[in-house]
Amino acid sequence: MPVPYSALSHLDCPRCGTRHDADRVQGTCPCGSPLLARYDLRQVARQASPRDIAGRPAGLWRYHELLPVRQAAQVVSLSEGMTPLLAMPRLGQALGVPNLLMKDEGLNPTGTFKARGAAVGVSRAAELGVAAIALATNGNAGAAWSLYAARAGIRSLIVMPAAAPEITRAQCAAAGAELYLVDGLIGEAGQLIAGALERRPGYQNASTLKEPYRIEGKKTMGLEIAEQLGWRMPGVIVYPTGGGVGIIGICKALRELLELGWVRGDLPQLVAVQSAGCAPIVKAFEAGAAESEPWPEAKTVAFGITVPKAFGDFLILEALYASSGTAVAVTDEALLAARREVARLEGSFICPEGAACFAAVRQLRESGWLSATDEVVVLNTGTGLIYPETAPARVPVLPPSGSIPALSVLPRQHQRTLSENAQPEG
Ligand SMILES: Cc1ncc(COP(=O)(O)O)c(C=O)c1O
Ligand SMILES: [Zn+2]
Repeated sequence: MPVPYSALSHLDCPRCGTRHDADRVQGTCPCGSPLLARYDLRQVARQASPRDIAGRPAGLWRYHELLPVRQAAQVVSLSEGMTPLLAMPRLGQALGVPNLLMKDEGLNPTGTFKARGAAVGVSRAAELGVAAIALATNGNAGAAWSLYAARAGIRSLIVMPAAAPEITRAQCAAAGAELYLVDGLIGEAGQLIAGALERRPGYQNASTLKEPYRIEGKKTMGLEIAEQLGWRMPGVIVYPTGGGVGIIGICKALRELLELGWVRGDLPQLVAVQSAGCAPIVKAFEAGAAESEPWPEAKTVAFGITVPKAFGDFLILEALYASSGTAVAVTDEALLAARREVARLEGSFICPEGAACFAAVRQLRESGWLSATDEVVVLNTGTGLIYPETAPARVPVLPPSGSIPALSVLPRQHQRTLSENAQPEG
């Protein structure tokens, strides 16, 4: 018998425990919960080892036994995954967390980690015969899913808030998506999608956790972190949390690796970072609750994490409790300052959502939750290029006949940058 490409066995409901067939198109469990993919891990262990994986092409498909696509030929790829895990020594020094690393998801196709979920979700949908997908999005997922759908030759219907980053509209439109804006937030976009699906037979709802495979793509962030550390888990993983697919996925991935015996020890402490303008998970965590309450009047510059009520909130909270993690809210002011600091000290122009995590690291170090010896991996979920309006640059315009000022008369802001950058490395 040929060796199977995927060891997918079935789908499980994490709320009521019902088992579902993974080889037909599935949405959510009748009980209302998201479904999670399960694998025959003994089969995986028979078929592959960390050493085999190291010899495969870079990219998330190197973990194909732990992904749901059954046939290699069905893979729809733009070369996503295996993003760098960068040391951040100067920033780490400044924050008092010298062992600070950043997984830079901004290098993915489409500009964000959403490419992972879209690659796996679209591949599996196409493999199961889905001809059209529909989703509500804060922008980046819409961009990723419509572009991957275009590559797969399937149609896409996208609804995003009018306030979502403008470039994501352009990405969807360029991909040929049927795109609508809503004067509201992602919840209202979701209602429009739900209404449309009643009149659109054949469309699959691909909104956050409304189908089982986006999370499988996103879990590869966890697989890669473990592999990039030499099949070892870090002490702490810090993640900007909106719908929470990434943090749930990373937790799922590490549990699969533990069960396989490819890593050992305790789960990393998972940290969900939100904006003070939309922090339902933080509030629920602080109350020790199993679910969150809808956050009224949600607003933050970190648009991707503007999710007033996550469908998978109970799974996010379970991951935080099970890993002895925590949840932190940071202000827009703090995250924008952190974003400038990352660019200035480490040369990386990150997205506001990723920046929120660095602001959270500062807060957690100051409160003593993080110690100077913790190994901390921060997820930067996208490139800063998506959000130009959140990083205004006030620069002098010179006439062609003008001259550049001498160093001694530089505006204060430049003098500060020069002197800080001239500090010797620690
Ligand atoms: C850049 C960015 N970071 C983080 C998130 C939150 O993702 P998750 O659903 O995994 O919590 C989003 C979601 O739109 C995003 O676009
Ligand atoms: Zn169920």
